[in-house]
Amino acid sequence: MRRVYIETYGCQMNVSDSELMFGVLGREGYVRTEDPAEADVLLVNTCAVRDHAEQRVLGRMGELKRYKRPGDVLGVVGCMAQRLGPKLLERVPQVDLVIGPDGYRGLPELIAQARAGERAADVAFKGWEHYEDVPPVRGNMVSAFVTVQRGCDYRCTFCIVPMTRGPERSRKLADVVHEVARLAANGGGTTEVTLLGQTVNSYHDGEHDFADLLRTVGAVEGIRRLRFTSPYPTDFTPRVVAAMAETPAVCEHVHLPLQSGSSRTLKRMLRRYDRDRYLAVVAALRAAVPGTSLSTDIIVGFPGETEDEFQETLSLVEQVQFDDAYTFKYSVRDGTPAVRIKDHVAEEIKTERIGRLIALVRRIAKQKNIGLIGTTHEILVEGPAKRGGLLQARTRTNKIALLDGPAEWIGTYRRVRFTGTTGSTFTAWPLEKEYPELVAAWQ
Ligand code: 5AD
Repeated sequence: MRRVYIETYGCQMNVSDSELMFGVLGREGYVRTEDPAEADVLLVNTCAVRDHAEQRVLGRMGELKRYKRPGDVLGVVGCMAQRLGPKLLERVPQVDLVIGPDGYRGLPELIAQARAGERAADVAFKGWEHYEDVPPVRGNMVSAFVTVQRGCDYRCTFCIVPMTRGPERSRKLADVVHEVARLAANGGGTTEVTLLGQTVNSYHDGEHDFADLLRTVGAVEGIRRLRFTSPYPTDFTPRVVAAMAETPAVCEHVHLPLQSGSSRTLKRMLRRYDRDRYLAVVAALRAAVPGTSLSTDIIVGFPGETEDEFQETLSLVEQVQFDDAYTFKYSVRDGTPAVRIKDHVAEEIKTERIGRLIALVRRIAKQKNIGLIGTTHEILVEGPAKRGGLLQARTRTNKIALLDGPAEWIGTYRRVRFTGTTGSTFTAWPLEKEYPELVAAWQ
């Protein structure tokens, strides 16, 4: 039996792509292993959005080579592989194969070549790959990722993704719905799905838009929670917002990438909205979906960002009161248009700005979360927590809660009361311990 180990970096799409690779290799008789020491094929699925992500992978390659026995194959796949191609083979001598996000069908062939002693990088454009015939082998069955769109047609000036993942293409609605229906029916216990795409709410299969997709997937029997990521702010059309509001399965949480609170910076980033438009989208979502939580992505130190522009990001964060934010220092990416914008922000200034931003984000999140202590929630138990012998669960609003309970609760929904918070995650008490009759009636 041959074993494959895949280490995944970056976004949820990469997690989903790794599941596809397990599918491609599963057809060749490979089984998945979590232990690199026993793997015959070791793959690192990489991210290219920031230099930091790439440096981490390069460091990790040095460690992984320890597990490479004679005849084993070590590969770099994903966005960094696509970006660097054959250069990776030159730079990292222990790497045998390099394949980008549209080339995973070619894995068995390149693995065979590598075994025959031939190292290769295959990052040629293959056309509009959908992987429609490849059944993913999922790591998480309770909550499943379903890719509905690949690639990106937006041209944000900081972003490498259009170059690594190619043009936007959507799967057919019927194919997505069949996949979700199979997941819900197959006994694996899937009741939650997250639809994935680079700008997922711009989904369009030629006939159906994202509103149709939400309504149809939300109506699949057995699907109790429906999430999606990442949307683009201006693709929340009134139709999409109405579908969110009217589809009970759609969860009350939106990850809404901001990037900057300054209209001038947004313009240089070639984002298709300004500050006021972003705020209008937030208002529309909050009006249509009461109690929705909001998270975001923010870049500091984009070329030309002045202190005043950065202040506008701080003031927008204050105004919106995000539940959570992922913050990044701008990282220059070769081949992206922002390379040509002069006026780079000094590293110390980026560090100082991100520090102020993180402090603000944490203060707001903590304040909000303290306000939730004592409230009750429906949670889905996802699995064992990393520490303390507890279970990890999630609310519809995407808050993470830890609770004490039996392993049989994994995959089930329960009512809990929040009893405390670290500022970001919660401790929770199962209500059935307090009011068993009431909870029985509710379930
Ligand atoms: N530098 C810093 N952050 C970036 N992101 C994308 N490209 C860059 C870059 N060049 C961030 C954006 C995006 C998230 C996934 O990564 O905030 O939403």
